Amino acid sequence: MRGGARVSASPSLMTSSLVTPEPTNAQRPPHHLAVIMDGNGRWAEARGLPRSEGHRAGTEAVNRVVRWCRAWGMRYLTLYAFSDQNWGRPEEEVGALMGLLLQYIKEQREEIMERRIRLRLIGDEARLPTFVREPLKALIKESEAHEGMTLTLALSYGGREELVRATQRLAERVLAGELSPSALTEAHLGAHLDAPDLPDPDLILRTSGEQRLSNFLLWQCAYSELYFLDRAWPEVSAEELLEVFERFNRRQRRFGLTGAQAEAQAEAQVSSEDSNKDHT
Ligand code: FPP
Repeated sequence: MRGGARVSASPSLMTSSLVTPEPTNAQRPPHHLAVIMDGNGRWAEARGLPRSEGHRAGTEAVNRVVRWCRAWGMRYLTLYAFSDQNWGRPEEEVGALMGLLLQYIKEQREEIMERRIRLRLIGDEARLPTFVREPLKALIKESEAHEGMTLTLALSYGGREELVRATQRLAERVLAGELSPSALTEAHLGAHLDAPDLPDPDLILRTSGEQRLSNFLLWQCAYSELYFLDRAWPEVSAEELLEVFERFNRRQRRFGLTGAQAEAQAEAQVSSEDSNKDHT
């Protein structure tokens, strides 16, 4: 077990998955939540189980959290499910994770379709084994018109690797004479990321006590709020998530402005959203 993190060996505190608690106004969910789902291995080790059992329990947590976030009206949920660096784990663990991904796609297909969830992928899909890549791509295609929550899986993903891919795409356009290097802006790079239209995450949550980003959404996290929860991923409950949202909603996001400017900007955004609602 790694030092630092406190992962309880007590029975799970999971919300009884049967009833999803309703968020209060103070607990309204962020527009885009991104999660580093950490602690599966330690959760299993603390119980004398193989690490693959931790990933199995982690997959069940994915099912619950997706269901809760969809029910709470969240627009975007992004899950860090397998990093580029995870390819270096023992073959058996990588195989177990790929098997769980396939199982997830098969078993959750109906729910994704019924709940009008749009499934997306960021990462180096070419590295995924065909038995995962093909059904995943099929479900991404099948769900692409869905207007419910967008669920993005970061698979074979690394933030630095994504920036290299974006730079390569830009360089090709420069070589083709479509863009001049001196005219390049932040927007050009953003437009060549894996999912350019995905908004930046408002909140990045990491479970299991570690306090780092581990190569996750390095471009997109510029103004994200970070939250570190001292709970292993398989044990995260709906109540805990709502408490995280409540704390997030109490933070003032200033985006480099003064507090007064940021407040005025937030109020302007709320009233423009309200007037958009009036017109729909
Ligand atoms: C980190 O915990 C977690 C992972 C590397 C994999 C996350 C995968 C899942 C939650 C299940 C599969 C995903 C989907 C979408 C079906 P760790 O193994 O590093 O834990 P540790 O830090 O305690 O060792």
